[in-house]
Amino acid sequence: MADGAVLLRGFAKPFEADLTAALRDIAAQAPFRHMVTPGGHQMSVAMTNCGGAGWVTDRTGYRYDARDPETGKPWPAMPLSFRELAEQAADRAGFRGFSPDACLINRYQPGARMSLHQDRDENDFSAPIVSVSLGLPAIFLFGGLKRSDRPRRFRLEHGDIAVWGGPARLVFHGVAPLADGEHGLLGRQRINLTFRKAR
Ligand code: SIN
Ligand code: FE2
Repeated sequence: MADGAVLLRGFAKPFEADLTAALRDIAAQAPFRHMVTPGGHQMSVAMTNCGGAGWVTDRTGYRYDARDPETGKPWPAMPLSFRELAEQAADRAGFRGFSPDACLINRYQPGARMSLHQDRDENDFSAPIVSVSLGLPAIFLFGGLKRSDRPRRFRLEHGDIAVWGGPARLVFHGVAPLADGEHGLLGRQRINLTFRKAR
């Protein structure tokens, strides 16, 4: 995709049954919710987390938190299938020794989008971002290191994994509004798993 950014087509496909079963468990413990940005906007994407650190946003800002603010409980543990997939994908993309402690789970229903942003709330930018797409296809916008750089568009399908790190670690990226559709395994939605080393 760019220097430091790789798209692994279909890499998560062999994991789809394990991933969807684990997702159901996680969402039962830490339900998807529409978080609010520091500017007061409710996000169109619904989110939850698993792992030792979860990404949250509210009126006070963005942060990683070991606990779900909705329940006060620790986020569900990161399932082994999630961890193994993320580590294998990072490895394949040339980032050896990736050990994620955070997995942000995004749920897009038709019309949901994510505006251009950098992932910069992590302590250590030497670790890559591993981003797994499941369900309905989406258009991923992948720009440059400046917000004004015109993004390129990549169609991400069920099972695709994008990995970006090194010189691409702070690239601006986003997701165009999700087109309506019905996916055989996941129905009328797209799920994205974003693995990070937060701490
Ligand atoms: C994100 O940047 O957190 C989400 C990217 C995606 O949904 O593909
Ligand atoms: Fe992101």
